Amino acid sequence: MGYHEEFRRSIDHPEAFWREQAGHIDWMQPPGTIWRPLDNGHGEWFPDGMLNTSDVALDANIRAGRGDQNALVYDSPVTGQTRSLTYNQLTDQVARFAGALLAQGVVKGDRVIIYMPMIPEAVVAMLACARIGAIHSVVFGGFASRELAVRIDDATPKVILTASCGIEVNKVIPYKPLVDKAIELAAHKPVCCVVYQRPQVTAELMPGRDVDWQDIYEKSAPVDPVPLKATDPLYILYTSGTTGKPKGVVRDNGGHAVALRYSMSLVYGAKAGDVFWAASDVGWVVGHSYIVYGPLFAGCTTILYEGKPVKTPDAGAIWRVCQDHGVNQFFTAPTAFRAVRKEDPEADQLARYDISSLKRLLLAGERLDPPTYDWLREHTGLPVLDHWWQTETGWAMCCNPIGVEPMPTKPGSATVPAPGFNVQIVDHQGRQLGHGEQGQVVVRLPLPPGCMTTVWGNDERFIHTYFDPLSGFYSSGDGGFVDEDGYVFIMGRTDDVINVAGHRLSTGEMEEVIAAHPAVAECCVVGARDELRGQTPIGLVLVKDSATITQDELEEELIEMVRDRIGAVACFRRAIITDRLPKTRSGKILRRIIRQIADREEYSVPSTIDDPTILEDIKTHFQQ
Ligand code: COA
Ligand code: AMP
Repeated sequence: MGYHEEFRRSIDHPEAFWREQAGHIDWMQPPGTIWRPLDNGHGEWFPDGMLNTSDVALDANIRAGRGDQNALVYDSPVTGQTRSLTYNQLTDQVARFAGALLAQGVVKGDRVIIYMPMIPEAVVAMLACARIGAIHSVVFGGFASRELAVRIDDATPKVILTASCGIEVNKVIPYKPLVDKAIELAAHKPVCCVVYQRPQVTAELMPGRDVDWQDIYEKSAPVDPVPLKATDPLYILYTSGTTGKPKGVVRDNGGHAVALRYSMSLVYGAKAGDVFWAASDVGWVVGHSYIVYGPLFAGCTTILYEGKPVKTPDAGAIWRVCQDHGVNQFFTAPTAFRAVRKEDPEADQLARYDISSLKRLLLAGERLDPPTYDWLREHTGLPVLDHWWQTETGWAMCCNPIGVEPMPTKPGSATVPAPGFNVQIVDHQGRQLGHGEQGQVVVRLPLPPGCMTTVWGNDERFIHTYFDPLSGFYSSGDGGFVDEDGYVFIMGRTDDVINVAGHRLSTGEMEEVIAAHPAVAECCVVGARDELRGQTPIGLVLVKDSATITQDELEEELIEMVRDRIGAVACFRRAIITDRLPKTRSGKILRRIIRQIADREEYSVPSTIDDPTILEDIKTHFQQ
């Protein structure tokens, strides 16, 4: 069957289509009902099916005879370590750590926050939660204490799992003080904090609250996976929205397993026994879906890489790992290759390694800019496949459907809608636009399995954010167009979310931090184009008449505040004092125009602007 036939079937007969896909995973009780609509306009996949995600990821592979195959290879240039775990070994560790969590009082439905670096224990922690039906919420290590505190208060975890430190190139970052401060800041207090001690730093444990990971692990007995409803939540993953409060994206067990299993062949062309490497972090959705769950659901060996594309130790790092572990599919964000290309423009490092195992390169997380696409094509000769997705969807909405029918690629396009996603381009009134016309990218409901089921604790926000803007559709927040061949081009966000080095951040959240500075009267943050990171935030600040602070002093203080409240990952490194901000007559700041000026793009002066001369001032600021 070709792509078009497969796509049509998924849209015209979704229940038959997904019933067939559900047959590719091990259920404890196969679903009788495939789809059940809910009153909120959304619906549930496989509502009467029972399974356990850790069983599908681990035990099922042992039953299929892959017990001695490597499940996970940990490659850590920052510590000089490499460690492999077979499916037998990983299952044993997960089962025992699950027992340890039970012994700490964690039961089905409890939330567990995981704030850990890229070490195998982070993967063990996620799968152990899944094994006992606890809901994990992994928080990226680059977020500061306050961000962690916000997530603690929203998810109200019983337990926090952490490690004594993370390692960023050659900088050791103690994690425990960050966790302690977050717990202090949060209103909710977890009953226990489990700490994995790494040799680089020994964390101090607070008696009565903190326990040593190894200690509880050694004392515990392995436990079997518990049967869970397909609709029970597997995890919460916070992502930036347009407000300062991140959204807890909730993912279920059943739809997630079925969709990711399907995506492993559709999008990545991966099969059991392949070596799959997604160079991201377990704190992001890419890490959840394609470092941990997807590759294991498909019986692959997954690579867990604790390092960077450059500087650990050089721009040959990606090729070295591909060679050493015989990687078949490699997936990362374009920014990683921009970093490599900047340091090694002629790809001299590539010649040092044998990457013949690599079948293709997969890119997502931000727009794949044509120069990076061309550079990769020229130097590797491999298929370079862009695909478009979001934390909310958990897997690709657009891709090159190589598992069904590989299609010619077009630079700048994520190719075509994945089966299950009826992608459309519409204008503000919801009218469908023609080929080449740019508009909002939306998906006609129902969404396929694997997509978010709600915002944690806030169903209203879920509906309001994604379904209210256009009835009958999921609003992605991205803009783009479809060309005459049906290829989808995603051009960027239409809201106040920015993408910095493949990391999704909220300018609204940064504005809240900046506005808290005593000298600031008003501010706005926009994402300006950046050669390496795609975008970086820049703040425009109006100071109070009474303030005596200089430009340099204020910039330094604001940079420090954003680092302290949001984290280094925000890359907030520029703040400009201005006398006025361009606004509409109703007082709305014209952020899009400010961004266009920062990017030296053409812009048209809107008729609603209260004073067009401000734009010249802004231009002067950015030219300095
Ligand atoms: N824990 C603590 N701090 C972290 C961190 C973590 N897990 N991850 C990043 N940081 C810090 C960095 O140390 C840096 O701090 P600094 O300002 O003190 O130097 C800051 O956050 C910015 O990090 P990053 O954007 O990663 O910058 P970098 O210069 O270290 O690396 C790239 C730049 C492009 C090489 C890197 O961002 C990258 O590889 N990105 C692409 C892949 C990717 O992971 N994408 C994610 C989604 S798929
Ligand atoms: P995240 O939820 O962190 O994965 O970020 C999702 C956002 O990243 C999307 O809404 C897009 O703006 C952007 N994005 C992801 N993949 C692509 C892609 N292939 N092309 C263009 N933008 C992308």
